Amino acid sequence: MSTVHYAHVTGWGRYAPAQILTNRDLETMVDTNDEWIVSRTGIRERRVAAAHETTASMGAVAGLRAIRTAGIDPDDIDLILLATLTPDYWMPSTAALVKEAIGNTRAAAMDVSAACSGFVYAFATAQAYVAAGLAKHVLVIGAELLTRFLDYSDRSTCILFGDGAGAVVVSASDEPGGSLGIEMTTEPQGAYMIWLPAGGAKSPPSAETISRGEHYIRMEGNQTYRFATKTMATTALESIRKAGLEASDIELFIPHQANIRIVEAVAKGLGLPMDRMYVNLDRYGNTSAASVPIALAEAVNEGRLQVGDHVTLVAFGAGFTSGAVTLQWTADPARGVAGDAAVDPADIHVRLPVDWDSVDPIPAALAELMARPGPLDVPLDDVVPGEPDHARQPVG
Ligand code: ACO
Repeated sequence: MSTVHYAHVTGWGRYAPAQILTNRDLETMVDTNDEWIVSRTGIRERRVAAAHETTASMGAVAGLRAIRTAGIDPDDIDLILLATLTPDYWMPSTAALVKEAIGNTRAAAMDVSAACSGFVYAFATAQAYVAAGLAKHVLVIGAELLTRFLDYSDRSTCILFGDGAGAVVVSASDEPGGSLGIEMTTEPQGAYMIWLPAGGAKSPPSAETISRGEHYIRMEGNQTYRFATKTMATTALESIRKAGLEASDIELFIPHQANIRIVEAVAKGLGLPMDRMYVNLDRYGNTSAASVPIALAEAVNEGRLQVGDHVTLVAFGAGFTSGAVTLQWTADPARGVAGDAAVDPADIHVRLPVDWDSVDPIPAALAELMARPGPLDVPLDDVVPGEPDHARQPVG
């Protein structure tokens, strides 16, 4: 096959659940305080999915928004890749549920498991399909519902994570540009630094695993922090080098939104000022595989990228994994806001089996907070046009 297929981002979209969990809310649940969380992580609040929402439903909203932004139909998508560590079920894949929810009849669909690096890994897979001529349009989604996998008595983890979804459409083109360089690493010596011990084949779910809290995310924060600060800048630099560029050529970095101190360390490692780093972790916390595509969609919609600019997406996560992709941006940034507005989350439905429903999915510690009456403080610049007000409920 002699034709070169370039992989361009032609669509982008994101979805953030309406409910907000602030640091003050967390103060009422565990022994923590706003000052500690802000100074150690930079996080001020995070989103919590409502009981009717799932990883698939959030991923479908973000995915359909990306498709609308790209100006194509759902059936133009040949492949759906969904990165997540919080799938709706062990099987089927969450990507299969998304395929039905967005009204696609043609695509192959599968999940990608690489924790917080998952979106970058899925993006790299999309590029490979496009470059090989196997797909014209690939929908790449990062979606997470982490708040249902957190131990709300463990202050070292429950303050970090939030829910949401982001997506891009990667399209084949003969025009140069788009994805220019990809780097991915996997270092299994960190395998048990961030993990979810029970529920898999090694430790199937039982009353005992649940009583031991082994169905919650566990993390060695310090070890993870060290890996992240060591690896993110080198992974980003390698992808920039493969793109034939230097760090100073990159107009904007979209780093995984885990901790502001980690982002600052990346900027320092690259010798660049913080204004080259896009940051929204103060509003969303760490949304794992969703963090990079949510941040990318917001950055583009805020006018932080222009046609011709270079952007590097870089993530790290459990595994340990890391991944970076360097792109030349080629899509009209103005398309994103209209793409978001074109999809009302209330219109997206993920089908359930007949005569089946789960137990109430909201963790008890959160359910009590979410039931409290009170005003919901949604920053105006964070409201997507067309987001339904009826989906908003008070948190505290
Ligand atoms: N509130 C108040 N105090 C706290 C809290 C809290 N929420 N959490 C921990 N502390 C205490 C600790 O108990 C400790 O107290 P001690 O000194 O009396 O023992 C003290 O604060 C310092 O704890 P450290 O863990 O050393 O704090 P650190 O500065 O390392 O920050 C943090 C912890 C924020 C978790 C940091 O290590 C970090 O961000 N690590 C990276 C985590 C990460 O990004 N994970 C995502 C990976 S991506 C994925 O794939 C899921």
